[in-house]
Amino acid sequence: MGYAPEQQAYVARLRALFGGADAPPLAFVDTYGCQQNEADSERLRGMLFEMGCGFTTREEEADLIVINTCAVREHAEMRVLGNVGALIHTKRNKPRQLIALCGCMMQSPEVVEKVRRSYRHVDLVFGPHALPRFPELLWRALARTGRIFDRDEGGGPLTEGLPVYRAAPPRAWVSIMYGCDNFCSYCIVPHVRGRERSRSPEAVLEEVFSLVRGGYTELTLLGQNVNSYGKGLAPPTDFAALLASVCRVPGDFTVGFMTSHPKDATCRMLDVMAENPKIRRHLHLPFQSGSDRILRAMGRGYTRASYERLIDDARARMPDLNLTSDVIVGFPGETEADFADTLSLLARVRFHNLFTFIYSKRPGTPAADLPDDTPPAVKRERMARLLALQRQLSAGERANGKGTG
Ligand code: SAH
Ligand code: SF4
Ligand code: F3S
Repeated sequence: MGYAPEQQAYVARLRALFGGADAPPLAFVDTYGCQQNEADSERLRGMLFEMGCGFTTREEEADLIVINTCAVREHAEMRVLGNVGALIHTKRNKPRQLIALCGCMMQSPEVVEKVRRSYRHVDLVFGPHALPRFPELLWRALARTGRIFDRDEGGGPLTEGLPVYRAAPPRAWVSIMYGCDNFCSYCIVPHVRGRERSRSPEAVLEEVFSLVRGGYTELTLLGQNVNSYGKGLAPPTDFAALLASVCRVPGDFTVGFMTSHPKDATCRMLDVMAENPKIRRHLHLPFQSGSDRILRAMGRGYTRASYERLIDDARARMPDLNLTSDVIVGFPGETEADFADTLSLLARVRFHNLFTFIYSKRPGTPAADLPDDTPPAVKRERMARLLALQRQLSAGERANGKGTG
């Protein structure tokens, strides 16, 4: 099951081109953002490796720089743009250097326009949907007949069989689905990654088999919302069934997964976890806010009570479960009382680890139009209180001998 033949033909042409050079060209693939982007970068490296490229992490010696970007918060975008801006100096010393930007930021027309106007040393721009056409895009960019800005809105069939260049064992990512359909009101991901699409169980299991055969022993299944895996597949299936099938693959390995959305997490999934020693005792279950009013405004689709019930169900089955979560501070309209609800949820659940974010306005999302009258200083002060409480709680967990896993 290979990727498109025309792309393989471009790979062959590039291999011939690169093979004719004095030394193999060196590529630097730099990754921002989440594990899905890490997994995409492994596919980019897989294609580059097939073309005969070597790899470097030093910008100044790279013939090709590929920056895989993240759009989830403004801070992430600023960091990318700052680093891309600095490459103008690197390229001055190495004028044939080719600079490509890809990933989530590059699916936004506004960002692409900014790159077109203000980052003229960038040669190639493409979003996540165009990734399987990277060989063709690179071939066209190397022709140097003009800058390439690809506009792929997605929606085509899933591409299987892209080569993957992974880090050495033991750890490996396995994407089980792409995109997101949840449209949480603050989040850019569904806008840039497109609609949710699941890989077939056969494709996932085949990858798991070959990873285990290759000595990988710590697998992590990836998706923005693994709990809605299988929607639209025929015959119908779900995440609990996939997880159980993965565990039946023979061999000595463990499997984890992320991210779980609380609204779609099922007791069956918890049962499968509890029954299978291959599944790591870790659940990353972002709650975002402890206030029902804010959860509704975020469009998360669960309440504080249903979240707490889910945690109780999980712990009843797995008392040693390691729980982690994401939380947003300062969502538009968050009052002191809403924030106090977030603190009390923290104290009630006692997470092993917490990933904390100050709300970042993402143009084009519904929350960007909500009035936001909480001063930034108040949001920062709330964040400090949140972190202090979490520090205190995790110190307590350690003192109880539970460890942080
Ligand atoms: N699909 C995952 C989250 C992916 S984004 C889920 O729903 O759980 C990772 C985290 O970034 C989110 O859980 C959220 O806490 C945070 N995040 C997303 N958009 C944000 C924004 N606009 N401002 C601040 N944090 C945000
Ligand atoms: Fe964003 Fe919500 Fe989708 Fe997670 S589930 S990626 S927070 S829209
Ligand atoms: Fe960022 Fe895209 Fe992941 S926006 S968090 S890299 S899906």
